[in-house]
Amino acid sequence: MADAPPLIHIDRASGFDGQTVRLRGWLHNLRRSGKILFPTFRDGTGFMQGVVVKAAVAPETFESCRHLTHESSVEVTGELHKEDRAPGGFEMEVSDIRILQQVSAEDPFPITPKEHGVDFLMNQRHLWLRSRRQHAILRVRHELIRAVRDYFDNNGFTLVDTPILTPAACEGTTTLFEIPYFDYGSAYLTQSGQLYNEATAAALGKTYCFGPTFRAEKSKTRRHLTEFWMVEPEMAYATIDDVMDLAEDFLVSVIQRVLQERASELKTLERDTSQLEKVVKPFPRISYDDAVERLKEKGVAFEWGGDFGGTDETLLSEDFDQPVIVHRFPMAIKAFYMQPDEERPELALGVDVLAPEGYGEVIGGGQRIHDYELLVKRLEEHHLPREAFEWYLDLRKYGSVPHSGFGLGIERCVGWICGLEHVRETIAFPRMLYRMHP
Ligand code: 4AD
Ligand code: MG
Repeated sequence: MADAPPLIHIDRASGFDGQTVRLRGWLHNLRRSGKILFPTFRDGTGFMQGVVVKAAVAPETFESCRHLTHESSVEVTGELHKEDRAPGGFEMEVSDIRILQQVSAEDPFPITPKEHGVDFLMNQRHLWLRSRRQHAILRVRHELIRAVRDYFDNNGFTLVDTPILTPAACEGTTTLFEIPYFDYGSAYLTQSGQLYNEATAAALGKTYCFGPTFRAEKSKTRRHLTEFWMVEPEMAYATIDDVMDLAEDFLVSVIQRVLQERASELKTLERDTSQLEKVVKPFPRISYDDAVERLKEKGVAFEWGGDFGGTDETLLSEDFDQPVIVHRFPMAIKAFYMQPDEERPELALGVDVLAPEGYGEVIGGGQRIHDYELLVKRLEEHHLPREAFEWYLDLRKYGSVPHSGFGLGIERCVGWICGLEHVRETIAFPRMLYRMHP
């Protein structure tokens, strides 16, 4: 028996022009035209257009191809030819096909090329992930995550994982997921690794954590998930200015990397990348006061002291091509750990980065309180249980220094890069107020 033809992946097809190869994958689509069939296969790495000519194959091969159903799993053999009109640039002249599992014609793959409603697609999310568009989004996400890790790894940060089960709130008590925890009574799913990062930064200088975070968000918006991934750098001996510099340098680096490495995916998504190419240094920096003035000029009835809503953020970012950094917010709308501005103590040294094109806040961070007494006072004002924060207070007793950091929400950033309406498509299995399935 002759050796079986080499098994290849579609994204490596260019090295096999004119050769007979095997592919393992799924039937994506099938067009029939009398004595010729045009199946499209996908194997996870790409899509390959096939041609099956009745006169050129065994009758049973032609018949099995003719009755092949969407998403049936198959191993196909055939010769590759350069074909400029085909997606990927190659076409396979099929000579043989082996069906691993034929999808029943009575119970066909539920997602068809016709338009489906979002709710239907979200319920079929486990199958929807097989579409070209979802592949593109997930690959952009993967590239962003690689870029994020490379950035911090190459800039002197040590990755230190922080716990998911925590004894107390980090970002306010209104969005805490509480779960029973043995003799302690309750534990909470982490809202941010920041408090732990402050300990690791005091140990290692520059650290970051990267993991899932949870917010019991009761709001149903296009920017909120209840489970999302956040990367959070933290630096000892760093001020609000250092954090703005870092956020700017970091964002430029990761956006440019995704643009470079995932051009074809962004094309699949029909993303206007000229907007992303404008993400260069320096970013405009405006104070909260300034932002309020801008909103008023735009006719928004916004009162100093309020927090920006999604619409306000969109309006603010409208004035700029690049992301805009907003800094120094009223203390009352920010977390308990924020360092006050020396000149105006009613302001917190917080920093938000708003993405352009209306994508809103992608980064939140700032400078942390390093004074022991002030932190004790803040815990009281925020009605936070001191016992749970004793270890955090220790950081202000033993070699306290100004320190700063931020958090970037991966899904918000992917949504922006891909130009998506809603963050729900940026993660394989989104968790939202009204979605826990699949
Ligand atoms: O602004 P946030 O709440 O900041 C913190 O959690 C800080 N402790 C981070 C730090 O300084 N280490 O959240 C940071 C980012 C937001 O800018 C946003 O991108 C994302 O996390 N984010 C969410 N993304 C999706 N769904 C949600 N419900 C989100 N909440 C925050
Ligand atoms: Mg925020």
